[in-house]
Amino acid sequence: MTPDPLVAAATEARTRAFAPYSKFQVGAALETEDGTVIAGCNVESASYGLTTCAERVAVFAGVARGFRRFTRVAVVADTAALTPPCGACRQILWEFAPDAEVVLANLAGRTERLTVRDLLPRGFDARQLAEPPS
Ligand code: THU
Repeated sequence: MTPDPLVAAATEARTRAFAPYSKFQVGAALETEDGTVIAGCNVESASYGLTTCAERVAVFAGVARGFRRFTRVAVVADTAALTPPCGACRQILWEFAPDAEVVLANLAGRTERLTVRDLLPRGFDARQLAEPPS
């Protein structure tokens, strides 16, 4: 089977993870509507709490490059049970990639496909902010 280039991009980005505290390296890659691929890796902080996951680094990098919508997301970690995005990343993915397919993958080549909607049912977004008061 031909390897998914988005998984390959996330796998490569994972090698740039800055994870000296957890040692848990994650790579993410997003595909835009025009096929552009934007990757990210987790970046940890000595304060721990300021750590940013690979998925959010990728989304923010994409937004900084002028993209506002992503159609696919790949997340790669070296875990036998595939690593899904954390709650904070699900929220950000919901806002910038609500219809995206999510490909979880590990270094052994295992993959699973689901959607952002599967990961965050009934997500909060700008629509609620636009609602009139009841
Ligand atoms: N992490 C990610 O980058 N993405 C995930 O989906 C799960 C967790 C990072 C955050 C932290 O640097 C390390 O993995 C351990 O939680």
